[in-house]
Amino acid sequence: MKVLVTGGTGYIGSHTCVSLLNSGSDVVIADNLSNSRLEVLNRIEKITGKKPVFYKTDLRDKTELYKIFEKENIDSVIHFAALKTIPDSIAHPLEYYENNVAGTMNICHAMKEYNVKKIVLSSSAAVYGLTDNNPIKETAPLFPYNPYGRTKMIQEYIVSDFAKSEKAGAVILRYFNPIGAHESGLIGEDPMGTPSNLMPYISQVASGRLEKLFVFGNDYNTPDGTGVRDYIHVCDLAEGHIKALEKLDIIKDKVLTVNLGSGHGYSVLEIIKSFEKASGIKINYEIAPRREGDVGTCFADITLAQKEIGWKAKRNIEKMCLDEWTWQKLNPKGYEY
Ligand code: NAD
Ligand code: UD1
Repeated sequence: MKVLVTGGTGYIGSHTCVSLLNSGSDVVIADNLSNSRLEVLNRIEKITGKKPVFYKTDLRDKTELYKIFEKENIDSVIHFAALKTIPDSIAHPLEYYENNVAGTMNICHAMKEYNVKKIVLSSSAAVYGLTDNNPIKETAPLFPYNPYGRTKMIQEYIVSDFAKSEKAGAVILRYFNPIGAHESGLIGEDPMGTPSNLMPYISQVASGRLEKLFVFGNDYNTPDGTGVRDYIHVCDLAEGHIKALEKLDIIKDKVLTVNLGSGHGYSVLEIIKSFEKASGIKINYEIAPRREGDVGTCFADITLAQKEIGWKAKRNIEKMCLDEWTWQKLNPKGYEY
C-alpha cells in the first residue's frame, strides 16, 4: 500500500511515517518544509531502515501536487499539512485560511482526478471551542473560537462532503494534546521560536534554553487550580492513523469522525511533577495570570475510537515525559543539534 503523507516531515507526520514504514507501507511525503526540516528524513531512515520518497511541494500549488499523483500510484492519503499556531492564526487569518483550506481543497481535487478513495484527516479538539462539557464526545457542537480552529472545522466539512459525493472513505481524527517523542530520541517536536504549548516549554526550561515556565492560572475549578488537559503520546497517536487506514478498508465510502486522546486529564502541576521525576531536573516555574481563551478542563471521550477503530492509547504520562526528555536531551537545539 502506498500512502501519501502531507506534512510528513512535521511533528505528528514524522512519527506516523515511522509507524507506516514499520507496518510495511510505502510512504510518499509532500511537505513545503515551512515548519519542518529535511534532516527528519535521515532520522526516519535511522529508525526504520527505510527512507520515504520526499517531494518538497506546497499543497497550494495544484500543478505540482498533481505531478505527485501522476508519478506515484497513491492508494490513500493522510493529510497533516497545515499551519497550527493559534496566536499566529489570529494575527494572520488569511494566511491560515489560504494554507489550510486551499491545501485541503487541492488534495481533494487531486484525489478526485486520480481516483483515490481513502483519506485520513488531522483535525483537532480546537473544533469544540470553549466547551467544558467533559469528557467531550464527537457529537458535541462545534464552536471553534479562533481562525485556526475554524480552518480545522472547514477542512472537516470539505473532506466529508468530498467523500460523500465521490463515494470515498474518510476518517477524521480529532487530536487532543499530543506530546512526547519516539523513544529513540531521534525524532520529536522541534518548534520554531519560543514554544506556546506546555510540554515543549517545560522541556526547554529543563534543558536551560528557557529560564522559567509561566503557569497560566491557578484559580480554575480543578483539583489544584491549574488547567487540566488530555495529553497523548505522539506514538500512540501515530498508531491511531494505522488503525484509521485499516478501518477505511472496511467502511469504504463512509465518513467516520473520532477523538484521539487518552481519556484522562492532567493538570499543569501534575505534568511538571511527572517531568521532574522523568528527568531528575527541577522545573523553575511561576504562577501567572490565565491565558486568554483557555478553558479549565478539556479531555476526550474515547469510547468511539475504541469501538470503531479498535484503538486505545497505551503509553502513560511517565512514558510521555521520559520520551520528551530523551528527545530534548539528545537534541537541545532540535534538528539543528
Ligand atoms: P507541524 O507543523 O509539525 O507539521 C505540519 C507540516 O505541514 C510541517 O512539516 C509543514 O512544513 C507542513 N506544511 C504546512 N503547510 C503546508 C503546505 N501548504 N504545503 C505543504 N506542507 C505544508 O504540525 P503537527 O503538530 O505535526 O500537526 C499536524 C496536524 O495535526 C496539523 O493539521 C495540525 O492542525 C493537527 N493538530 C496538531 C496538534 C498538535 O498539538 N500538534 C493538535 C491537534 C491537531
Ligand atoms: C492548545 C490550543 C489547542 C490545540 C492544543 C494542541 C490554545 C488556546 N489552544 O491547547 O487548540 O489543539 O494546544 O496543540 O492555544 N500552559 C501553561 N504555560 C505555558 C503553556 C501552557 O501554564 O507556557 C497551560 C495552559 O494554560 C493549559 C495547559 O498548559 O492549561 C496546556 O496548554 P497547551 O499545551 O498550550 O495546550 P492547550 O491549551 O490545550
